[in-house]
Amino acid sequence: MTQIQPIALVSGATRGIGRAIAQGLASKGVKVLLGARNLEAGQKVAAQISTPATQVEAVELDTTSQATIDNLVTFIREKYGRLDILVNNAGISLDFYPDTPVREKLSRTLETNVVGTAALTEAMIPLLEKSGHARIVNVSSVLASFTSRAQPDWIYKDVAMPTYQASKAALNSLTLSYAKLLMEKNIKVNAICPGLTATDATNHYGDRKPDQAAQVAIQYALLDDAGPTGTFCDENGRVGW
Ligand SMILES: NC(=O)c1ccc[n+]([C@@H]2O[C@H](COP(=O)([O-])OP(=O)(O)OC[C@H]3O[C@@H](n4cnc5c(N)ncnc54)[C@H](OP(=O)(O)O)[C@@H]3O)[C@@H](O)[C@H]2O)c1
Repeated sequence: MTQIQPIALVSGATRGIGRAIAQGLASKGVKVLLGARNLEAGQKVAAQISTPATQVEAVELDTTSQATIDNLVTFIREKYGRLDILVNNAGISLDFYPDTPVREKLSRTLETNVVGTAALTEAMIPLLEKSGHARIVNVSSVLASFTSRAQPDWIYKDVAMPTYQASKAALNSLTLSYAKLLMEKNIKVNAICPGLTATDATNHYGDRKPDQAAQVAIQYALLDDAGPTGTFCDENGRVGW
């Protein structure tokens, strides 16, 4: 029996963890639509990570632009008719820009990490419904875990990134709400933390590589029907909200 090739959209996949998620999914035979703000940059990455069996396809996507989201919905509907996996990876962090006023930092961070994610998710729901067993993975951070932040001996107890942590806490809330709203449609919605990873966002701090960080997102993107929904996990298992 021939199996239908799953179709995934990964936002913010030109570099870092998003690129590694796209590459990892493609290596598992998933048709990946690689979301890129700059389509030309996305096409270069898509060519680099395509496999002989699976062509990765770059698509224009800026989550702060409703026009690119709407155009992408039309494109996926006309070309593929459905979407099986949505990885909401696009994210920014501006806490370490001391000259940027907090109002601007917070609104830009929320616009990308929260408003953009919600807008993309809502727009893709009709295509995800067509899948019959769709998965949404929200790339969050343990830095937003209130449970962890309340522990006096937590490894990141000294970290304070007000705008980033607020945005990922809001993303976690979206995860729980959409998990509830979409449960009847067998669309599973989970938040994951990729772990502290050497990318542009962290000034390449530490040894953890994006391909390692991508594993938990890939695992939740490929959950079978018995898998959970409405959870927050990292590579070690459940994370407290
Ligand atoms: N790195 C870590 O330690 C870590 C830990 C926990 C969670 N995370 C989360 O993991 C995700 C990826 O982080 P990363 O470290 O890989 O970051 P990164 O290297 O800075 O890459 C961010 C990606 O998001 C894209 N992007 C930014 N704003 C966008 C928008 N408005 N619309 C669409 N794409 C947009 C960027 O596109 P351009 O190339 O066009 O700029 C880039 O592809 C983020 O959600 C981050 O919060 C990271």
